[in-house]
Amino acid sequence: MTILTLGNEVLRRKAAPITKIDGETVKTAEELIKALHAGKGIGLAGPQVGLLQRIFVVHIEGDIPRVFINPSIIETSQEMVKYEEGCLSIPGVYADVLRPRQIKIQAWNEKGRPFTLEADDILGRVIQHEYDHLEGALFIDRLSEPKRTRIIARYEKQQKGIKDEDTLRG
Ligand code: NI
Repeated sequence: MTILTLGNEVLRRKAAPITKIDGETVKTAEELIKALHAGKGIGLAGPQVGLLQRIFVVHIEGDIPRVFINPSIIETSQEMVKYEEGCLSIPGVYADVLRPRQIKIQAWNEKGRPFTLEADDILGRVIQHEYDHLEGALFIDRLSEPKRTRIIARYEKQQKGIKDEDTLRG
């Protein structure tokens, strides 16, 4: 699985619900977890690998890998907190993002079992970040306009630098 990066319009599209959770879904979940580990990330959503389906995986240190299918965030705390986020689709970019401190999510796992989970701290944060991907949203959308512009400019410059290096290497 190749991870799509900023500028790819697939990242901006809304993912469709998974209508049937079956063996294919198990395979998709396994592949997403593999790609997540390969990228050394903590969360990865379908659209990031060009799969416009409502599925994401999360694997936080000290926890088991978790699969979320057709998720709904059913509660969010009033309290908002800042937390530094990054994204496998915007490599090298990190910024403080303000979001609810705690959420409650309802989803199905890859075996088709429904579950509800309350999450705060890093788990709550990564779940909210991945959920955004299903809506075609990226964490930089939640920054102020000047900050977003600055970050994108720096990212593009850095990407161009990487490409020039590739050219030099032939
Ligand atoms: Ni991301």
